[in-house]
Amino acid sequence: MAKRIVILTGAGVSAESGVPTFRGPDGLWEGHRVEDVATPQAFDRDPRLVQSFYDQRRAALAGVQPNPAHHALARLDSAWPHGKDHDLLLVTQNVDDLHERAGSRRMLHMHGDLKSAWCLACDSRTPWTGPLLDAPVCPVCNARGHLRPDIVWFGEMPYHMARIDRALARADLFVSIGTSGNVYPAAGFVDLARKAGADTLELNLDQSMASDRFAQSRLGPAGTLVPALVDDLLGTESSAR
Ligand code: OAD
Repeated sequence: MAKRIVILTGAGVSAESGVPTFRGPDGLWEGHRVEDVATPQAFDRDPRLVQSFYDQRRAALAGVQPNPAHHALARLDSAWPHGKDHDLLLVTQNVDDLHERAGSRRMLHMHGDLKSAWCLACDSRTPWTGPLLDAPVCPVCNARGHLRPDIVWFGEMPYHMARIDRALARADLFVSIGTSGNVYPAAGFVDLARKAGADTLELNLDQSMASDRFAQSRLGPAGTLVPALVDDLLGTESSAR
């Protein structure tokens, strides 16, 4: 029976909230090639394009709400025991704030957070809800025009890797939800979890690039599959007590 759980989410968990996934059928992310908006080189070349792209994504958060998958994961977080034997960590690749708005607390944003700005002058991070295009002043050091989206771009190091690696090394269940298995290191978490002896489960609308590395795959929308999984986990846990 699972006691120490690590859950990885990707764009598919937010799809039913109306947040577009990264890889649409045309391979574009909201009309842009990833290299044009999600690399440090793109930011050096055309900072206004990159800032306005993320400003639009940040502003769009006001129009979307957590869906049943986010709510179910928050329910699991509040009910799952915390202690020597039990643990739970939700790792999201998403930069939206829907997990925390649903109430998840034991969670990490490994690819950054749209609602955070990073000052390249003083290296501080500040909660941010407005635009960055108009070169606002850093509230910590007062320098103007040095704030960038606090997003991990291609070629940059994902956040919190030491904590994630530790949790994977102790996990007895790893669940991946709504991610295409395209982007490392997240795409390799299933292998680390298996190496640690964990059971592995994938929930996705379709087969992903990583499906054959999971012990089990369930196909369907996250808004249906995730609440059912959480019911199972909490049901088994309470009957074991
Ligand atoms: P993708 O857009 O590559 O993949 C989304 C996945 O979600 C696909 O496998 C879909 O089948 C699945 N999916 C779509 N709708 C779903 C639903 N309703 N229920 C369940 N699954 C559904 O997004 P990610 O794999 O999350 O990185 O992308 C990973 C990273 O690549 C992103 O974090 C971002 C991106 O470029 C950076 O920006 C660094």
